[in-house]
Formats: sequence, structure tokens, C-alpha cells
Amino acid sequence: MAKKLWDKNSTINPFIEEFTVGKDRELDLLLARYDILGSIAHSTMLCSIGMLTDEETVALHKELRNIYKIVEDGNFIIEDGVEDVHSQVELMLTRTLGDIGKKIHSGRSRNDQVLLDLKLFTRHEMQKICQSTKTLFDSLIEQSNRNKNILMPGYTHLQVAMPSSFGLWFGAYAESLADDMLFLQAAYRMCNRNPLGSAAGYGSSFPLNRSMTTELLGFDSMNYNVVYAQMGRGKCERNVAYALASVAGTLAKMAFDACMFNSQNFGFIKLPTECTTGSSIMPHKKNPDVFELLRAKCNRIQALPIDITLIMNNLPVGYFRDLQIIKEVFLPTFKELSDCLEMARYIIERLEVNKNILDNGIYDPMFSVEEVNRLATEGVPFRDAYKIVGMKIEAGEFTPNKEIHHTHEGSIGNLCNERICELMENIYNNMDFSKIEEAEKTLLGRD
Ligand code: ARG
Repeated sequence: MAKKLWDKNSTINPFIEEFTVGKDRELDLLLARYDILGSIAHSTMLCSIGMLTDEETVALHKELRNIYKIVEDGNFIIEDGVEDVHSQVELMLTRTLGDIGKKIHSGRSRNDQVLLDLKLFTRHEMQKICQSTKTLFDSLIEQSNRNKNILMPGYTHLQVAMPSSFGLWFGAYAESLADDMLFLQAAYRMCNRNPLGSAAGYGSSFPLNRSMTTELLGFDSMNYNVVYAQMGRGKCERNVAYALASVAGTLAKMAFDACMFNSQNFGFIKLPTECTTGSSIMPHKKNPDVFELLRAKCNRIQALPIDITLIMNNLPVGYFRDLQIIKEVFLPTFKELSDCLEMARYIIERLEVNKNILDNGIYDPMFSVEEVNRLATEGVPFRDAYKIVGMKIEAGEFTPNKEIHHTHEGSIGNLCNERICELMENIYNNMDFSKIEEAEKTLLGRD
């Protein structure tokens, strides 16, 4: 028999139930530990305003910590007939504690509970994403420094254009990640505000101490306006999704380059054989499937903000069940992107670069601008120098001077990698995750 928090002795229609519960029983498992942390903070606050006695609160905390342990051990389930994680935790509390368990929901709604769970979950997962992004950044900088003198062609329109280098290529993706980190930080800060106490979206007549739960849960501040707090459902996920999509965009572009540069027609980079996959029919094949899958997965992640936007588009103020569906696309993305970041780092560290690309004469024309610039330095007006070199190339008389000398900031000869590292470190070190770790430990009585 179905057990509903909102049971009023009427019968439940199983057809309607299955449809409305949807994937919650499975997805909410990811939120379980955060639901419990939220309940510990909420009950502490209820005690402080006289809604629970000290003994009741001690009993609740003991039981909530037991349930947390069950989650950690991988044994937490949402039972058949129970709608979601919020109902399951309350059910477990009432089973062991009776009336005490029934008191915990005072001044709270599942609407602010799920808001809170999502923010705590997201905050935690973003910490991992930021760490993996930083690690990949470090590997790219290392490859950039190691290969800073190795030239490769630069392209525009996929036509050979000007000299570039592996120092520039690897470093470009590192700097891109530094910008992505700024995006992650902004999304993280928006996420790190407490929605608890907004209840169904309009607050409560109990004198809730929201500053107290904000502090207990280690948030930077709260979403003050209760109506806005509820509006944050979907908005928070969408903003975070934009930040994740930004990282994914960097990875997808890099993966495309790598697939292309690894092809025989380019032959700029090589994957160790053990990092390639074979063909069932063509015995010679060593395919860069790793980069292809990275590209596809990261392209799909870039659709996430749009997915979320479409789910919540045109919803007026207040809670709607539509918002539940966002969990289906949002929650699994963190693991997907983490796996991609981890694999990207692994494969980037193992990439071998071709040191003799420019021996091939098809790249000679890319030194044309160097020659134009040389003449211009000697006093020939740029436009005339351009014409002289252009005519030589047309007549097949151009012999390139491959000694190049680029000195300005961010160029082949002056990568500014230390400055790029500084940029990244300033953003990364500004994100203090220790406060949330401390808060969670205290709530669990583990300090
Ligand atoms: N599973 C629901 C969700 O994710 C929980 C909130 C339910 N609230 C409600 N008013 N039905 O949105």
C-alpha cells in the first residue's frame, strides 16, 4: 500500500502514481545524504525556537546520523509506494521515533527541501568538477611548456595560414579552462545561498531562524526573498549547466582538433597504441575513439542549459511539478563531465607530438607573412611588401626562412604561461570549499 506524506485516507491511483513519481525513486538516491544534512540543520533550528525539545532533537539527530550511515554504506533505498527521498527519510524517522519524527516537517515543505538538497548536491559536485578542471589545466600547461619550441601550422578556413606551435595549442586550451573556471565560480556562488525556510515558496508563520540554518549548512548567505528562493529552482541548475557547458565546450573543441591532427593527412600528434581502438575488418586501424567519445559526450553536455530552459520555460512564479524533470537531465551530468575531464587529462598527458611537421613543403607558404614583415622592417611599406611576396609565391619562387621570431605577449616566443597560471590560481584559490566540509562534519557530529 502506498505511503504518502499527503495521505488523507483516500485511495491512490497506481497509474497516476507511477507517472507522477517517475524516476524520482532512483534519482533521489543521489540527494539522500543532503536531505539528511538539511534535516539535521532544520531540526536544530526548530529546537532553538522551541518547536522541538532538546531530548527530541538529540533523538532526531541520532536517528538521522544512523540513516546517513546507511546511505554511506550504500544500503539506503526508497521503498515501493514511497514517493521520494523526503518521504522515505520522514518515514524512517517516524518508524523509529514515532511522534518525534512527525514533528520535523514543521515550517518546511518538500519544495524547499528539494531546493536545498539540489544546492547541497550541486555544491559538492562542483567542487569535484573544479578540482578536475584544475588538474587538466595543469597537464595542458605542462605539455605547452614541454613543447613550446615545436612548430606546427596554424590554420584559418582550414587552409595553412601562419606558424603556430604546440606551446600555443596546448596553452590555448589551458587558458580556455581558466575562463571556464570563472564561470564555474560564478555559478557556484549563486548556488551557495540557502533556500531553506522558503517552505512551499511563501515562508512560514513559525519564527524560523534562517540565518541559523544558513550558518549550520555552511552557505555564504541565503536567498532572502522566499518567492525568489523558490524561483531559484531551475535557475540555479540552468546557471550551473551553463558553466558545465562552458567546460564541455573547451573539451569538445580540443577533442575535435586532436581527432583531426591525429589523422594520417595531418600526422601532427600520435596516441600511444594502447590508447587507440581497432577495427573488426581493417587490420591497420588505430582509431582515436577516446577523443570522438569525449567530443560527443561534451557536445551533449552543451545541450543541457537548453534542455533545462525548455523544461522550465514560461512557468510563472511558484512551484510546479515540471521542475522535477530537471533532475533527470541535470543530476547525471556531473559524473559524465567528471569522467570526461579525467579521461582528457589521462590522454593529454600521453599525447606524442610530431617534431618534424614543417619538413613537409606543403607548409612553406605559412612563412609568407614572416617574409612580408621582414621587408616591412627594412622600410618597404607593408602593402608593397605584401605584393612582392605574393608575386613570388605565385611565380613559385618563394623560399621560406623558417627561423621565426615572435616576441609579443601570448605569441610563440612568449607564451605567458606563468601569467595564465596566475589567472587560474587566482580564481581557483578564491573558491573556499573548506567551510562546507567543516559544516557537514559538524552536522554529522564528526568533528
Ligand atoms: N519530487 C518533487 C520535485 O522534485 C519534490 C517536491 C514535491 N512537491 C510538490 N509540491 N509536489 O519537485
